[in-house]
Amino acid sequence: MPQLVLDDVRKRFGAIHLFDGLKLCAEAGEFLAVVGPSGCGKSTLLRLIAGLDPLDGGTITLGKRRIDTLDPAKRGVAMVFQSYALYPQMNVRENIGFPLRIGARFIWRSGSRKATRSRARRHWVTS
Ligand SMILES: Nc1ncnc2c1ncn2[C@@H]1O[C@H](COP(=O)(O)OP(=O)(O)O)[C@@H](O)[C@H]1O
Ligand SMILES: [Mg+2]
Repeated sequence: MPQLVLDDVRKRFGAIHLFDGLKLCAEAGEFLAVVGPSGCGKSTLLRLIAGLDPLDGGTITLGKRRIDTLDPAKRGVAMVFQSYALYPQMNVRENIGFPLRIGARFIWRSGSRKATRSRARRHWVTS
């Protein structure tokens, strides 16, 4: 992953000022673990980086690109939820296949690499 920089990040939930000028830098290729007691803001931090929650102030930069102004799909960031976040109406096969199908559509639309397209095509054929 490229360098990730959070600068002066602010996040409020009503009267709670969860982040009030947070600064954080993870260098390119660095493995960073964020630990803390329940409720200290670990999930919110990931949600802000992934774009699932809006910032109340500050900036997030990934590589040379400012990403906090981009839609989640355009950030090149993914997160894994603490709970499995499965779709209850789908069986195991459908739960695994769904993101692959969505990803395949996205890859085709954005005209990404040939090898990735052929992997996605194989999935369509076998699913
Ligand atoms: N959608 C929300 N509405 C109100 N408060 C929230 C919301 N999401 C998180 N919080 C509050 O922000 C704080 C941090 O939550 P969270 O990021 O889930 O903590 P952690 O992942 O470290 O357990 C908690 O006090 C929580 O109650
Ligand atoms: Mg959490």
